[in-house]
Amino acid sequence: MDATFPNRKSLFLNLVLFAAGSFCGYLLNSHLDTVYIREQNSYHAAGAFEVSSLMRPLGKTQSHLVKYDPTICNKLKQIPCSECKAAKLSISAADQKRREASLKRYERRRINIFHGRNQVNGSSPISYPAHGVSVIPMRSVWLKGLQVEWFSLYNIRSNIKLKFQINATRGVFNLIGHVHDVDVTGNGSKTITISTYSPSLLNLQLKYIAYENTFFDANIVDRVIIQFMEFTATMPIHIQHVQLPWLFEDGTGQVKDRVTVVLKTFLRYSRLKNAIESVNRLYPGTRIVVADDTPDHLFTSFQSSNVDHYRMPAYKGYFAGRNLGLSQVWTEYFFYMDDDMMITETTKMDFLVSFLDETNFHLVGVGIQDRLSPTTYLALGNKTHRCIVQKPDPGYYSEIRGFPGIYTNDAVLNIFLASTNEAKAVGFDPHPLLARIGHNEFFLSALGRLRVAACSFCAVRHVRGGPVPGNYSKYRKPEKRFKAKRNNYNLYMHNIDCVKTQWVVNKARKQ
Ligand SMILES: *[C@@H]1O[C@H](CO)[C@@H](O)[C@H](O)[C@H]1NC(C)=O
Ligand SMILES: *[C@@H]1O[C@H](CO)[C@@H](O)[C@H](O)[C@H]1NC(C)=O
Ligand SMILES: *[C@@H]1O[C@H](CO)[C@@H](O)[C@H](O)[C@H]1NC(C)=O
Ligand SMILES: *[C@@H]1O[C@H](CO)[C@@H](O)[C@H](O)[C@H]1NC(C)=O
Ligand SMILES: *[C@@H]1O[C@H](CO)[C@@H](O)[C@H](O)[C@H]1NC(C)=O
Repeated sequence: MDATFPNRKSLFLNLVLFAAGSFCGYLLNSHLDTVYIREQNSYHAAGAFEVSSLMRPLGKTQSHLVKYDPTICNKLKQIPCSECKAAKLSISAADQKRREASLKRYERRRINIFHGRNQVNGSSPISYPAHGVSVIPMRSVWLKGLQVEWFSLYNIRSNIKLKFQINATRGVFNLIGHVHDVDVTGNGSKTITISTYSPSLLNLQLKYIAYENTFFDANIVDRVIIQFMEFTATMPIHIQHVQLPWLFEDGTGQVKDRVTVVLKTFLRYSRLKNAIESVNRLYPGTRIVVADDTPDHLFTSFQSSNVDHYRMPAYKGYFAGRNLGLSQVWTEYFFYMDDDMMITETTKMDFLVSFLDETNFHLVGVGIQDRLSPTTYLALGNKTHRCIVQKPDPGYYSEIRGFPGIYTNDAVLNIFLASTNEAKAVGFDPHPLLARIGHNEFFLSALGRLRVAACSFCAVRHVRGGPVPGNYSKYRKPEKRFKAKRNNYNLYMHNIDCVKTQWVVNKARKQ
């Protein structure tokens, strides 16, 4: 091995000294073959050197020394899709093409700050902020922390000019100050190159560089490429517009000032009446938003001082109604329920509000009488071939610390308290295929976007029976063909191959 030429893998450095602007240090470049494995867990080095770090990775040929743990290895693998026996989405090649194009557009629009990995290699001399540099669009940020930590003895002895280059895509570099005897080219441009014979002057100049965003974007990352010797590093700079918060006036702070009850109703007004009365009895003054797609000839208005009864075109549907209701909420939280539910003392609305107030959760579900039915989702396969399996047993991940009886999970029943802004961002899809039945659709859309919890000691009463006007039953129990269409719609929408959902398996409430 050539002992003088700087080879990244073999550089063994121990000591770099700087004094008064001139380089007077030595870089120890030892022969790493002197570091070897002799016995398990003991390393030996040639006498003259102190081994302060092991710099040579085990070669491929040494992998036979590794005894793999099959349990851990299994956890690293994707869970094969073949485990999922649900029907696959069969679409024409043309539709598949359209779906791919739609996915591309979706991903392009998405604000996804860190895409891909940013490998920082060891033994590189470049120090830089690997994360956390941000700048307001069209403004500048001082790049603090740029420094070269060591220099090659060969370069210094041969009087080779040191060259440090940085490239940006969405902005330019400006010198905040110029250091004497340092050559800078590209000041004010996308590529700035700093050259000097003096390591200390180079490092001094690196302290005075600013990045200025010149290509506007509301929220994106510029990956700045740094080059020094044969080393490169990627420094992400987050271009981030000011994000203003969305706050709510909460009046007296009572439930009635902080929660709006959102109800979707259709035809069965005796139930709706019970639902409204239950809210008025327990939380008088709370605003109730009712979305109603009852046909005209059966419509009765429930409008009152605290009830806003929104009339929709007939049969416009379930999720469309929920979405309409949600659009009319201006409180921080909303409580969603169907018209066949009644709020009771056991609903513990005050407690649910304080739970969302005190934690970072967005949504907390309650049970129906003794049934909580929380579930979790398991994603099988990979990005291109993915299946979602709903796991009702145990249906939750863990109990939330400080809140006994409340669990983290992915989906709950159709009765929950949620924070308005975040739930609105997910929304209830008003597509006609979700006009009659919809449930897991909301939670699939919310997956990874909302923090969902379930309260095992909070519940509403489920009211059954009562008069059945119009063609309610026919409407509520759609034929198989409709269900299949709805299923296909979900698969298409989420770019998944199958979804296997099981509701209401877990009848017993978690205690
Ligand atoms: C940086 O930009 C310069 C000038 O455009 C180019 O020559 C150089 O290859 C770029 N470096 C990297 C790492 O892309
Ligand atoms: C660097 O360029 C900016 C304009 O892009 C200029 O204002 C500044 O004076 C320049 N600095 C030096 C040291 O040349
Ligand atoms: C890190 O090292 C690997 C392997 O030596 C190399 O392929 C890669 O380009 C290096 N990355 C950077 C950012 O220098
Ligand atoms: C994704 O999974 C499918 C089916 O299991 C497999 O055929 C494909 O190779 C996988 N793709 C990647 C990128 O792993
Ligand atoms: C029954 O419901 C359907 C919606 O599924 C609607 O289109 C139809 O007009 C209704 N029929 C009557 C008689 O109201």
